[in-house]
Amino acid sequence: MKNKTFGSSSTAEQVIDANHPSSMEGRIVVITGCNSGIGLETAKQFYRKNATVVMACRSEEKMVASRNEIVEQVPNSSGVLDMIVLDLGSLASVDSFAQAFTQKYDKLHTLM
Ligand SMILES: NC(=O)c1ccc[n+]([C@@H]2O[C@H](COP(=O)([O-])OP(=O)(O)OC[C@H]3O[C@@H](n4cnc5c(N)ncnc54)[C@H](OP(=O)(O)O)[C@@H]3O)[C@@H](O)[C@H]2O)c1
Repeated sequence: MKNKTFGSSSTAEQVIDANHPSSMEGRIVVITGCNSGIGLETAKQFYRKNATVVMACRSEEKMVASRNEIVEQVPNSSGVLDMIVLDLGSLASVDSFAQAFTQKYDKLHTLM
């Protein structure tokens, strides 16, 4: 299923199930801008696959609300939903994110 073609009606769930048919436990995924829209849906799907998802959003308040939403909608995941504030419009914030991330993790498998 890896080379399946997707279209405008494909869902994030279909895409991740085709590309990651088995559990992603232990895989570390950073997703920027994931408190709404396509980023939020992507975070939900990687978390559903049991990945360690590091949410990277500029608003801590929105990030916490989105994290709560994901946990409520995906109650059976064995993954991790971490949060580190990141404003991509600020180099200081990018630097602070990188420091916080590397203090906690020694690998990054996927960056979105
Ligand atoms: N990680 C990714 O690759 C990613 C994530 C999201 C969207 N996108 C792209 O954005 C386009 C529109 O997607 P959409 O309609 O779902 O989303 P959207 O409404 O455009 O929102 C995008 C997300 O990006 C966040 N964001 C905007 N500026 C940011 C910044 N300086 N630092 C950190 N986060 C920031 C927004 O956070 P606020 O709520 O704080 O504004 C929001 O969560 C698409 O082309 C999509 O590919 C990519």
